Order: sequence, then C-alpha cells, then structure tokens
Amino acid sequence: MTAMFNNAFDQKKVLVTGHTGFKGTWMTLWLQQMGATVVGISDKVPTEPSHFEAAGLGESMTTHWLDIRDTDAVPAAVADEKPDFVFHMAAQALVKASYDDPVGTYSVNAIGSANVMEGLRRLDNQCTAIMITSDKCYENVETYYGYREDDRLGGADPYSASKAAAELIVSSHTRSFFGGDDADRNVRIGVTRAGNVVGGGDWAADRLVPDVARAWSQGENVTIRRPQATRPWQHVLEPISGYLHLGAELAQRPELHGEAFNFGPPAEAVNPVRDVVVALKHHLPGLDLTIDESQAHFHEAGLLKLCCDKALSHLSWTPVLDFDETMQMSAEWFARYYNDGPDGIRAYTEGQLAQYTSLAAERGLVWAKN
Ligand SMILES: NC(=O)c1ccc[n+]([C@@H]2O[C@H](COP(=O)([O-])OP(=O)(O)OC[C@H]3O[C@@H](n4cnc5c(N)ncnc54)[C@H](O)[C@@H]3O)[C@@H](O)[C@H]2O)c1
Repeated sequence: MTAMFNNAFDQKKVLVTGHTGFKGTWMTLWLQQMGATVVGISDKVPTEPSHFEAAGLGESMTTHWLDIRDTDAVPAAVADEKPDFVFHMAAQALVKASYDDPVGTYSVNAIGSANVMEGLRRLDNQCTAIMITSDKCYENVETYYGYREDDRLGGADPYSASKAAAELIVSSHTRSFFGGDDADRNVRIGVTRAGNVVGGGDWAADRLVPDVARAWSQGENVTIRRPQATRPWQHVLEPISGYLHLGAELAQRPELHGEAFNFGPPAEAVNPVRDVVVALKHHLPGLDLTIDESQAHFHEAGLLKLCCDKALSHLSWTPVLDFDETMQMSAEWFARYYNDGPDGIRAYTEGQLAQYTSLAAERGLVWAKN
C-alpha cells in the first residue's frame, strides 16, 4: 500500500478500544496495513458471525479483554501500553438497546470515555487521542440545516444522551488536565462525530444492510415497512478515513487540540430506505423484496444531518464514495461472505480497502496522496 496520512502510523503503537466491533475491525486492518502495531481493549467479540473472527484479527494483535467501565484496569492498560495514538470506539452503540438498559448505556459510553481519559493522564510519552462519539450527541431541534460542531448537545433517548455526556466529560478532562501551553502538554485530544454507517462485516442487531443480506443468504423475504424513512448513508471507511486523518494532522498541528469534527456523507447521499434496498437488490441477485408503502404517511422524527464544512476547511476532508458505490461495496462484501464463507475474507476486506484508497487518491483526497 502506498504512503498515506503522511506515514503517521508506520511503526507506531496504536490503541483501539472497541477493536472487535464493526468500525474497530476495519480500522485495525487499515492500521496494520500501514505498519502500525495495534493493541485493543474490548469486553468481547460482540456478534456471531463476526468480522473480527472471520478476518483472524485476534491472532495478529494483543487484546486486553476488559470492561471499559473498569475504573482500575482500563486506565492501567492505557498507561502500560504507552500508545502513540488512541482511537476510542468501545461503546454500547445501539439506540434500541439503550431503551432496554439505559443505565448500562450511560456508564459504558460516558464512564468508559472517562476511564480512557484517566489512562491518558498517566502517560508521559507523546500521544494523540481521538475520541469517537456520534452525530446523535447533538440535541435534535428538528431543523433542516446540518448540525455544526458548536451546536447544542443533548439527547431525547438514552443512547444520544450517553454520547452527549461522553462529550462533556472529554471536554472537561481536556480543559482541566490537558490545557496550558502546547510545549507543556504530551497528550493531544480530538473529538469526532459521525452517523449511520454501512459496509461489510457489520452484524449488529436491527441494522438494515446486515438484515437484508442475512435474509438474502437464507432465501427469505424482506419486507420494508418504512420505505420513506431517510438516513445519511455512509460507508464505514469514510468516517474511519476522517478519524485517521484527524489523528495524523493533530499529531503535527497543536492548534487542532481539543477540537471536534463532523464526518458525514455528502448531502446527496441522504436517501430513503427504499433507495437503499433497491440498490442492494442490484448486487444481491434474487433478493426477495417487498416494499410496503401503506405506512408512508407516518411522521418521522426530523432527520439529523451533519454539516461537514469544518472538516473540509481545517482538514480538506470530504467523503470519497457516492451513494451507489457505498451500497455496491456493502452488498458485494456480504455476497462474497455468504457465497464463499469466511475463508479468505480478510484478503477480500483488504481488497476493498485498496479499492477505497485508490479511489480516494484519484479523487484528490489529501490524506491519500502523502
Ligand atoms: N455504526 C454506526 O452506525 C455508528 C454511528 C455513529 C456512531 N457510532 C459510534 O462508533 C463507535 C463504534 O461503533 P460500531 O458500529 O463499531 O459498534 P459495535 O457495536 O460494532 O462495536 C462496539 C465495540 O465496543 C465494544 N464494547 C461494547 N461494550 C463494551 C464494554 N462494556 N467494555 C469494553 N468494550 C465494549 C464491543 O466489544 C465492540 O468491540 C461507537 O462509539 C459508536 O457509538 C457508530
């Protein structure tokens, strides 16, 4: 793979929390390809099947099997590893599950972030840490414009509130313990907010693309009951390119310390579910699909869109893929997995990664060219 992100990760120790999850597995594979030694903190392998297991990631890295809520073990593991970079993604990531276990969600997402920040306080080496929250950290005021980084935080459901709480904790720790002159500070913190991602290797519950792919693999009918519901669809590699790019830039540019960035899809990728399943059907031949329009009149909560002007202006970051390419890459990954099984899936994932990075270079993304 050619140089990327200014070679920031080559020969570096990178700690990824939540490395067994959907985003974590893609990020780990990408970092390993760039020459990083990746260590992980996760409580378990969260799904069956699992991208982490199918890609054999466990054999190529050290894992600290810890609950991110453990206020002794998590800071100690961060301090022991002395990482050059940290990407914190361990979370209870599902809105629906947050209604079943609100307190658990608050503690994993908010206290878990505090524990990682406490570990960073114990470091005496230089370290750049990227704390990943969500677009849902913004108070949804049902407006038509895209949310900006200085808009109000909040959350009407436990998941959203837990992410807003994580943001407040990270901001407070940054100002309380990592303030002052850059010359006196060995840790730099960045914060990122992205939404709804799709792609191969996701088997989390109640997510459209994995549910459709699973039904297709078993020859079952898929009925879509809210085809008009719109979401900002984004391939998993898009926010990950943003997290990596911010990490590489922040390590070089002290003025980015403490800043938050949105990494969202282009406005034209905000599409209804109907368009997603129609696009998936092109790549999952024989998909037995029923689109039920009878509830089309139901009111949906206002769509939460991100304004990504700050990422463009400060980082020259934009998404790489359009909507069709996003759906094609996602559907083809699942078709490959269900047709041929897990053997060789790591090479297939790496092939998609190479396809993505070469498109990024072709389309002029700065991180892909240096
Ligand atoms: N997937 C999305 O659409 C999306 C959208 C916005 C934000 N995010 C955020 O991105 C991050 C990664 O999301 P994902 O989709 O990969 O989630 P995921 O559910 O696939 O993975 C979550 C990871 O966190 C780990 N984890 C969960 N609870 C833990 C605990 N108590 N202790 C230690 N580890 C624990 C899991 O083992 C797993 O490795 C999360 O912070 C999530 O909130 C995801």
